Amino acid sequence: MNRAALPLALSALLLTSAALAASVADVKKKGVLVLGTDPTFQPFEYKDASGNIVGFEIDIARAVAADLGVKLQISAVGFGALMPQAVTSKRVDMAISAITITPERAKVVGFSAPYYRSAQVFIVKGGNPKKFAWPASVKGKIIGVQANTTGQYAGNDALKPKGAVLKVYDDFAAGLADVQSGRVDALIGDAPTVISLKKRLPGQFDQAGTALVAEDYGMVFTKGSDLAAAANKTLARLKSSGEYQKLLDKWIVQK
Ligand code: ARG
Repeated sequence: MNRAALPLALSALLLTSAALAASVADVKKKGVLVLGTDPTFQPFEYKDASGNIVGFEIDIARAVAADLGVKLQISAVGFGALMPQAVTSKRVDMAISAITITPERAKVVGFSAPYYRSAQVFIVKGGNPKKFAWPASVKGKIIGVQANTTGQYAGNDALKPKGAVLKVYDDFAAGLADVQSGRVDALIGDAPTVISLKKRLPGQFDQAGTALVAEDYGMVFTKGSDLAAAANKTLARLKSSGEYQKLLDKWIVQK
């Protein structure tokens, strides 16, 4: 190998070892837990007025990093790229993003224990001018879904066969904007986000009809990573110390 090629080969090697870090030992060695999250999902993860990524799940991820004795580094990744590619390619050590635990996903990634019970619901414009209701009126309606989410899967399984037209968004916020402008009749989203939206933007959004499916959220790691067990330890600690309840009270708006 000539001299010029050596630094290149060395940096490639360093990059590769960083990219492979997805175990407790590797994260401790790096001193950083790289978190991937799609921060468009208040109250779980979103950007505050100063552009900082905050939310219920960000605090949980901070606790996991603190228990590991490392820093948390937050990387914003669109949900479609996050689940599962950013995790399986080890671009991030961990993903937290209101990610529903499903048997299909569990084939490709590792989940922590479930920590939050949620549901997929329909978000409509405040006052519901388009008169959308599930399951009463789906035929011919245009329904927004975020790419790679359980909302999209439920749309494919339950709404398309009933004659609904799905519009797929990479960016959940773009879907919300289209609810506002009337380009879609409804957007599928997670129940707590609607309550949060209603509180933040009074009169602008409503939930319509009943919930589509109930689901549980989990933190996501590469399959087989011992980081999942570490996260479970943190969850157990937060729950037994009462901190988990404090986080719920701090972030999740009740009806
Ligand atoms: N719970 C749904 C899922 O796992 C949607 C999550 C979307 N999260 C987000 N941060 N945009 O598919």
